[in-house]
Amino acid sequence: MYPLRRNRRLRTSEAIRSLVRETVITPDDFLVPLFIVEGKGVKEEIPSMPGYYRYSQDLLPAEVKKLWSLGLKAVLLFVKVDDSLKDNTGKEALNPDGLMQRAIKTIKNAVPDMLVMTDVALDPFSSFGHDGIVSEGKIINDHTNAVLAEMALSHAKAGADFVAPSDMMDGRIFEIRTLLEDEGFHDTGIMSYSAKYASAFYGPFRDALDSAPGFGDKKTYQMDPANRDEAIKETLMDIEEGADIVMVKPGLCYLDIVRDVRDSVDVPVAVYQVSGEYAMLKAAVEKGWLDHDSVMLEQITAIKRAGAHIIASYFAKDVVKLIS
Ligand code: PBG
Repeated sequence: MYPLRRNRRLRTSEAIRSLVRETVITPDDFLVPLFIVEGKGVKEEIPSMPGYYRYSQDLLPAEVKKLWSLGLKAVLLFVKVDDSLKDNTGKEALNPDGLMQRAIKTIKNAVPDMLVMTDVALDPFSSFGHDGIVSEGKIINDHTNAVLAEMALSHAKAGADFVAPSDMMDGRIFEIRTLLEDEGFHDTGIMSYSAKYASAFYGPFRDALDSAPGFGDKKTYQMDPANRDEAIKETLMDIEEGADIVMVKPGLCYLDIVRDVRDSVDVPVAVYQVSGEYAMLKAAVEKGWLDHDSVMLEQITAIKRAGAHIIASYFAKDVVKLIS
């Protein structure tokens, strides 16, 4: 009761504020997304993601060594493949000598202790730009699962530590876990994009990988942004099926879901602060309307405070440089 309790006493200096701070950001919080392209010496900026690049494989060793030196110990890989390699079977996704499989080896050779996670979904390989196999305008669930499981296995064989299915097919975690077990990959983990919403915030990412859907949208597999209880159902099912880490995506608009999930599960919770969230801040900063570093840190802190154990973020490098 006032004046016996004056809450401002705990805010009088930075020293006391830092002593009582509940949420602290460290390099250990981050998973760094990397976009990889064919070619040599390629470092190209993604137009809708200022300051974020696609790298060719030969530049990956230097980039991951840099990340490691900053204390960033986990990467999440995405590849952009040539249109000529895209089809409706996911063939290139299974190529043992494909861009993803080569990139995994390159990174593991450069920094053996770096944790390598790989995106498992067909959209960058699909002539339709969809996450699964298409038939008569529909995304075919079980057929897609069989390909996703083979894709995950090929990443595991190439040396991936974790596979990260981002497709939202029903039952894919079970199919992937079962095949990995059968093939002896007991230690290969699964980070499931369990509550992934059909969000309009993925636009810049689809520019980065040239992976926008050629027809329709992703609403028959990704979740309706209006739903909250459904996120728990999706997440608990993925854990039953063998997910080691679950994810909520996007970040900022979905922090209620992050807290619900965190309170409902006994596995680590990841949050993906997606490309549109990155682009919005960069654009506002370009206009001179927001202060980059303080807004960035406030957003990351909010995601962790909401319940994230792990944050996949395009700001990872910027944040770590700022706080070190
Ligand atoms: C594709 C995938 C997407 C993202 C990660 N994996 C896009 C989509 O579902 O269309 C989005 C990431 C971002 O926007 O930063 N399976």
